[in-house]
Amino acid sequence: MSLEQLSGKTVLVTGAGGLIGSRITSRLRQLGARPISVCKLDAYPHEVYRERFGIDAADPDFVVGDIAEPDLMRKVISGCDYVIHAAALADVAACTRRPLDAIDTNITGTQRVLDAVAASDRVRRMVFVSSASVYGNGSPQFVEGAAVQPVSVYGNSKAWGEYQTAAVLGGAGISYAVVRYFSVYGEPQVVKERSHSWVVAWFAMRAALGLPLHLNGGGHQIRDMVHVDDIATGTLRALVAPRANNATVNIGTGSGTSIREIAELVRGHYPDVPLVETPMPPGDPEGGFASVERMEELLGWRPTITVAEGVARYVGWLKATPEAIPDWMRQAAAA
Ligand SMILES: NC(=O)c1ccc[n+]([C@@H]2O[C@H](COP(=O)([O-])OP(=O)(O)OC[C@H]3O[C@@H](n4cnc5c(N)ncnc54)[C@H](O)[C@@H]3O)[C@@H](O)[C@H]2O)c1
Repeated sequence: MSLEQLSGKTVLVTGAGGLIGSRITSRLRQLGARPISVCKLDAYPHEVYRERFGIDAADPDFVVGDIAEPDLMRKVISGCDYVIHAAALADVAACTRRPLDAIDTNITGTQRVLDAVAASDRVRRMVFVSSASVYGNGSPQFVEGAAVQPVSVYGNSKAWGEYQTAAVLGGAGISYAVVRYFSVYGEPQVVKERSHSWVVAWFAMRAALGLPLHLNGGGHQIRDMVHVDDIATGTLRALVAPRANNATVNIGTGSGTSIREIAELVRGHYPDVPLVETPMPPGDPEGGFASVERMEELLGWRPTITVAEGVARYVGWLKATPEAIPDWMRQAAAA
């Protein structure tokens, strides 16, 4: 199974302006595919999209629009060989604060994408991008066959997307795969205000400003940190691997790292920064790490970037690109 088979294929990536979608589209270009993007470009200030993620909104293959618009989705998807549905209100805390916005995109928008894929006579497979948040506070090792038990609005919406993808595309006889990403990080990730996700970027940016690193609940939560380059590769493999047909697959490293350990890795690059224990925010799961057996078996692959290497890469990028630290964070630091 080779990704070279994507050469010459037209692939829709929803949410392609964001961290993960932009990495997937650049990999698709390298492979000789034609990525088509649909993205609302509403998760960051425009300069972040332009300067960090390299988005050119004037590119005719980059459609600035909403996946919840049925005519738009039908028109775009009718010309595509594959679909990767990655658009979402992707911030756990924002979904909790704004559940109706989460429903608009993660539920209604997903249904519009599914309707258009089901109506297409060209799409060979759709990958639905899900999340380890569907496991909630289950056992420390998350196995795909276990019951889903989400504990947040975000996790609920992803669990619904998984079931609905199986119901709609399974019913229409169109191949799909569900990928459950664990904690994605890597340059040029830029933190979102009032979020408590994206710990590597949060810690590195705070450390660069000389601010203490907050260990919510003591920092004992476990995360399986998977670099965005590995996420892009795993997602493309799920798009074409014959054995991933109608399967649900974790994309993780199989190793757990505590939040405290991540803080220590970041502090290795900024030795004077203090660690401070803070209360646990609501909806922050204890976490765990991925079972990777199914991923290795169905995708014939596993991630290669270790968390120490990924943190070093992120810090190296941040030191070379200090202007990536958002103004609101600098202002809070100054205050
Ligand atoms: N980053 C992680 O750790 C992680 C972990 C698990 C799963 N995921 C999933 O991966 C996917 C990509 O996440 P990301 O980290 O790149 O997030 P991101 O916020 O960087 O990108 C998501 C993009 O989707 C776009 N979008 C939102 N609503 C839209 C709509 N209605 N129509 C069109 N575009 C819309 C946003 O404008 C944004 O550019 C999401 O589905 C997310 O839930 C991410």
